Amino acid sequence: MTIFDNFQIISDNWKYVLPPSRPSEAELQRIRLLLFDMDRKSTIAILGSTVEYRDLLKEMGFESIYIFDKNRSFYDLSKTWCAYDTSNEILIEGNWLTTLDNYPEHFNVVLSDLTMGNIDYSCRYDFYRSISHMITRNGYFIDKVLTNDMPYIPLSLIRKKYIQIPLNLLTANSFSCEALFCSELLNDGKIDTTKFYDILRSEFSNSPKLLKLIELSHLITPENCVWHYGKGWHKLEKDYISFYIRSSFYMDFLGSPYYGRSRHYFHKKG
Ligand SMILES: C[S@@+](CC[C@H](N)C(=O)[O-])C[C@H]1O[C@@H](n2cnc3c(N)ncnc32)[C@H](O)[C@@H]1O
Repeated sequence: MTIFDNFQIISDNWKYVLPPSRPSEAELQRIRLLLFDMDRKSTIAILGSTVEYRDLLKEMGFESIYIFDKNRSFYDLSKTWCAYDTSNEILIEGNWLTTLDNYPEHFNVVLSDLTMGNIDYSCRYDFYRSISHMITRNGYFIDKVLTNDMPYIPLSLIRKKYIQIPLNLLTANSFSCEALFCSELLNDGKIDTTKFYDILRSEFSNSPKLLKLIELSHLITPENCVWHYGKGWHKLEKDYISFYIRSSFYMDFLGSPYYGRSRHYFHKKG
């Protein structure tokens, strides 16, 4: 179960979620540059209902946009966050693990922002093979991935950093990213937010400031959610890039909680 399965929470709180948990300006600019000379009749798929990608494609005049999402109610809600009319979008409702294979060589570009953690390790190879199959020859798969290239952050360092900084939406987002998605808690090999919050509350029980920050970060990442992160990227990368003739990536910017920990991949299909 992820946050997206809890409609009430997601509908109330998605507006509090900031980059890097959503696409950043720099990431959108890179995609804009790649699509700049592309025929506006090209067919583009988005994995999930990522609002920023849909607005970007609209602004650039792309007409054939497919949204693959298992959560119809989240998709319907996300339409209200889009700046532009979404009536020409085509929603493919269902689990990616069953829907993507129905569109062989259908898309010039597939866009994805932090979808990997939603997929169990045992299904990863099939998931990425399906994505590559749905892309046309010379097409692109553009994907932001949490790779945690640097060692996980010890909780002692989390305490040292956050006990000094102000409580606000930015620090709550940053704490959620670092404590739940980049800390030594990931040695478990899976993110279980209920378990992680219990550990954080007991670890920081003597700091009213950190307990307040834990409370605030529930606006960004609630309890009862599981993501499949924690396995070393060196064990996953080979399969992940094996379907493409070229895979290049950008690291997140200095100062981002995902600096040295996420990659914005541009994969080109042969
Ligand atoms: C793209 S991911 C991560 C969110 C991303 N960072 C964003 O800003 O949009 C979340 C989206 O994918 C959808 N989703 C998650 N797992 C899925 C699956 N197995 N099949 C289809 N849709 C899925 C969720 O319903 C949600 O809309």
